[in-house]
Amino acid sequence: MDKLVIQGGTRLEGTITASGSKNSSLPIIAATLLTGKSPFQLHRIPDLKDIATFRSLLHHLGAESTFADGILEISTQKVQSARAPYELVKKMRASIYVLGPLLARFGHAEVSLPGGCAFGPRPIDLHLMAMERLGATITIKTGFIEATTNGKRLRGGQIDFPVSSVGATGNALMAAALAEGTTTITNAAAEPEIEALCHFLVAMGSPITGIGTTTLAIEGQPTLQPVAFNNVFDRIEAGTLLAAAAITGGSITLNDTEPEQMQAVLEAFSQAGCTVSTNGNSISLESPRTLQPVNITAEPYPAFPTDMQAQWMALMTQAKGTSLITDHIYHERFNHIPELNRLGAHIDITSNQAIVHGPQHLSGTKVMSTDLRASASLVLAGLVAEGTTEVLRVYHLDRGYERIEEKLCRLGARIERQKYDEFS
Ligand code: EPZ
Repeated sequence: MDKLVIQGGTRLEGTITASGSKNSSLPIIAATLLTGKSPFQLHRIPDLKDIATFRSLLHHLGAESTFADGILEISTQKVQSARAPYELVKKMRASIYVLGPLLARFGHAEVSLPGGCAFGPRPIDLHLMAMERLGATITIKTGFIEATTNGKRLRGGQIDFPVSSVGATGNALMAAALAEGTTTITNAAAEPEIEALCHFLVAMGSPITGIGTTTLAIEGQPTLQPVAFNNVFDRIEAGTLLAAAAITGGSITLNDTEPEQMQAVLEAFSQAGCTVSTNGNSISLESPRTLQPVNITAEPYPAFPTDMQAQWMALMTQAKGTSLITDHIYHERFNHIPELNRLGAHIDITSNQAIVHGPQHLSGTKVMSTDLRASASLVLAGLVAEGTTEVLRVYHLDRGYERIEEKLCRLGARIERQKYDEFS
């Protein structure tokens, strides 16, 4: 197992390029299941564990792919099996993204129910509701979702989401892309990753109106075409790197970004006293001598993203005052708090709100990763903690960050990846 050994106390400085987005790559890769024509050429796909997991799921279904230098070439021509097994689905919830395309292309799909995750139950009722609105029959049997169109083609319909759901919006769009007629989706997720999926489906041949808004209309097609496509940048990795500069009193520039997709996060950094400037596709951040406390509430896009909540909490341990951090998307996404407190932070929790008392002097010690963004927050804290911080179980981190320790070291951090035996 790997750990990251971090010597705290160095300022981060320099320029770096953001990776491609994990959370747009996954639905885009799933959407290649919508046509047997090939090949697809997907650019700026990050080299992550979640991408490897998803590729192995698609290969299990019969797809073939090669992946080198950020380019994923994939063909789903030979896909036959429409059954996604528990052994693969349990590794990554986003495996549920194969439901819509398999159902739309083959008329049936069997997908293991995904597990929960470290921060609470992750229901999929809205995914199933969307499939039923398009004419599918859904049954749950022995831990599997069994979806069928009863031998007919899915038909376009109206899908009104009571809750904004990135995954359910993605599944609905992919299924509707092959349905007969037009599907209107209200209260759709407007996250940039869904916007990227929309552009991908349009490129494949299914017209979509309302892209970037919460009301989408997609005109289903009898067949779709394989395409070459450039993936969007990872706004969460970008926000994490900016937080690394802010927490170490540093100054960095990120290239190949879309600043308008990070407005809420950049605004929070500015309110904390950072000097944030943008120039085309670059974002620069200069940290102040004293960070100001900034309250954030994680809500659907364009609000502050829940995937940046843990990283913001680490930063606020160094702010001069008290800040409130609320997560309206995942009320239990606070597993990073006990570990941050072990480093010397002083964070209290009420129901779905954390109260961060700052500034707190942090001292390095061993800390345990519990989930992807919690591990990122522990790395950020380790960058500013006095002495050595060991972040254990970094397989969580590797799910969503492309060799982040190499990126941070290029900016001046002192981090080493080491093997260790958890039970020695
Ligand atoms: C996506 O998860 C992201 N994952 C998550 O990022 C992110 O935290 C989340 O969106 C919210 O932005 C990927 O894109 C692979 P949701 P997803 O459906 O689609 C409720 C990371 O760190 N809900 O938008 O699973 C749900 O409980 C990961 O990269 C239902 O009630 O999230 C939650 O409260 C972690 N029923 C809210 O909606 C459903 O059927 C938003 O969930 C589906 C969701």
